[in-house]
Amino acid sequence: MSAEKLYPVSAEWAARAYIDDAKYKAMYEASVKAPEAFWGEHGKRIEWFKPYSRVQNSSFSPDNVSIKWFEDGTTNVAYNCVDRHLATRGDQVAIIWEGDDPKEDARITYRELHRHVMKWANVLKSQGVKKGDRVTLYLPMIPEAAYAMLACTRVGAVHSIVFGGFSPDSLAGRIEDAATGVVITADEGLRGGRKVPLKINVDAACDKAPGIVKSVIVVKRTGGAVAMTEGRDHYFDDLAAKVPDECLAEEMNAEDPLFILYTSGSTGKPKGVLHTTGGYLVYASMTHQYVFDYKDGDIYWCTADVGWVTGHSYIVYGPLANGATTLMFEGIPTYPSISRFWDVVDKHKVNTFYTAPTAIRSLMGAGEEPVKRTSRASLRLLGSVGEPINPEAWEWYHRVVGESRCPIVDTWWQTETGGILITPLPGATNLKPGSATRPFFGVKPEIVDADGKVLDGAAEGNLVIADSWPGQMRTVFGDHERFVQTYFSTYKNKYFTGDGCRRDADGYYWITGRVDDVINVSGHRMGTAEVESALVAHAKVSEAAVVGYPHDIKGQGIYAYVTLMTGEQPSEDLRKELVSWVRKEIGPIASPDLIQFAPGLPKTRSGKIMRRILRKIAEDEFGALGDTSTLADPAVVDDLINNRQNRK
Ligand code: WT7
Repeated sequence: MSAEKLYPVSAEWAARAYIDDAKYKAMYEASVKAPEAFWGEHGKRIEWFKPYSRVQNSSFSPDNVSIKWFEDGTTNVAYNCVDRHLATRGDQVAIIWEGDDPKEDARITYRELHRHVMKWANVLKSQGVKKGDRVTLYLPMIPEAAYAMLACTRVGAVHSIVFGGFSPDSLAGRIEDAATGVVITADEGLRGGRKVPLKINVDAACDKAPGIVKSVIVVKRTGGAVAMTEGRDHYFDDLAAKVPDECLAEEMNAEDPLFILYTSGSTGKPKGVLHTTGGYLVYASMTHQYVFDYKDGDIYWCTADVGWVTGHSYIVYGPLANGATTLMFEGIPTYPSISRFWDVVDKHKVNTFYTAPTAIRSLMGAGEEPVKRTSRASLRLLGSVGEPINPEAWEWYHRVVGESRCPIVDTWWQTETGGILITPLPGATNLKPGSATRPFFGVKPEIVDADGKVLDGAAEGNLVIADSWPGQMRTVFGDHERFVQTYFSTYKNKYFTGDGCRRDADGYYWITGRVDDVINVSGHRMGTAEVESALVAHAKVSEAAVVGYPHDIKGQGIYAYVTLMTGEQPSEDLRKELVSWVRKEIGPIASPDLIQFAPGLPKTRSGKIMRRILRKIAEDEFGALGDTSTLADPAVVDDLINNRQNRK
């Protein structure tokens, strides 16, 4: 590897930040040597109705995986994110909303947020929602998404947000799994000037999962005409007119479920990652404060969608728990122009900007001018999340967007971790482009080899976490066994992340990407098995194998090998048909980039598909196929190579 560049902490940042290098080291040491004392203290950053006496109670032992934090404390998340701030910052803006159309925006103060959340909470109650019930949200990026999330937590209900880009099939699967009697949606979404048929999708999902949904609450976003099923569908405004304004926050135990969020794994259907109340909020708010060095008055913008965990922790819960001003953006980076991000930064004087590498790479392709024609003088800190950021994109983000003045926090974490685990702190960490650098307080990363041996010093292997942290997921909803199997069976007594990782001589961590059958497409996580089952559900497909391959903008692209039913002929039309089929089955984010029609797939004599070979061919690296001696029919490979779709 070429000599890596180092970007030292600037004098301004060292002076401004909560945490400098010495403080990081001291706090980190304390956090891992005496976690009980450390978290016992930092748990107090949120307000408890009844204080906890017990801090950590966790076991990673495969025969008894159990994770509890602050287990005898009681609190309420909406109370902490809203009510608690009224005395000191009732008139401060909590949410800046920027619409898809630049002419549309809104500023919602904490006092207004409080009123909205109470109204929403009473609307939920009017639909029979009680503590412990699950509610599905399928919404665009509008303030109502935050109101509805907070209203759920106010009444003790568990929300399950489904990203608006998912298909009716995917939505139905999630409604079914979480058994949600209530669904909250909008008539239509608006993205890049185009309408997203949210209510139509909900109707289709209800048809596919009959008998589960009793009530659909519809927010009017575009005002477009939609079908309303009598007795089941209600406009929010009509329900709101009939319920009281005030609603007290329910007293919740620290370990009561807060939300479920479905995420893809290497096998089977997406699993419902379950997060609970107290530990999650402590962790989300603490990481938001220190990683983004959040101070009163800062304008903070995370460009994620609330349908992903980044939106949960770093648009809504972390920032609002800290009394921050958080920007919520409905649109896309390229509409109405490719300068949109930077126009929004200038319009709202954004100080902290947090986005995904894929966005940076695609904007990079349009050159510097669309960035340079904006000021960006308000920017102070940049963040990256969702996938490894390649050093070229890092340098461009730093030099062009940040005018070489803003540190970049490259934050590594997962839906499962609830919050950021490995990250620079802007006043403490000298940066290396492409490295997520060092663990956050209380996080014990380890690198292990295939046999689970812990590797010391500079090393490369698989990334595990040796002990629990408060934001960790507690279980897979309805399937604790799957939780244990997925995360705690590979390496004894450790949480297995599914990521490969290198640690350099300075102790910096470099995430190298997934080591399982999960791929990361534009920062969106996708299970290859899910795409395969969508493909084989098509009448003309007999077999399919899906792998990731390096893609300049998306990070990874989706490469599908498809074997057709006897008698079916490959054609361009069929290729297109299969792409739209997968979009319909899962959603646009799962669209295969390349499809190769393959008369046969490389299998072992016992019939197992040799994915290693398929990955190499998809990467156009077939010179290094490795050991092929266990192949049942070696001739298959030659055909695959000759007809490969990704010729460099
Ligand atoms: C996977 C988790 C974290 C919230 C959004 C994605 C990859 C995430 C980084 C980063 C390298 C990263 C990992 C991880 N990932 N952040 N900064 N550097 N890789 O959450 O959908 O649960 O995906 O995203 O592979 O395992 P997710």
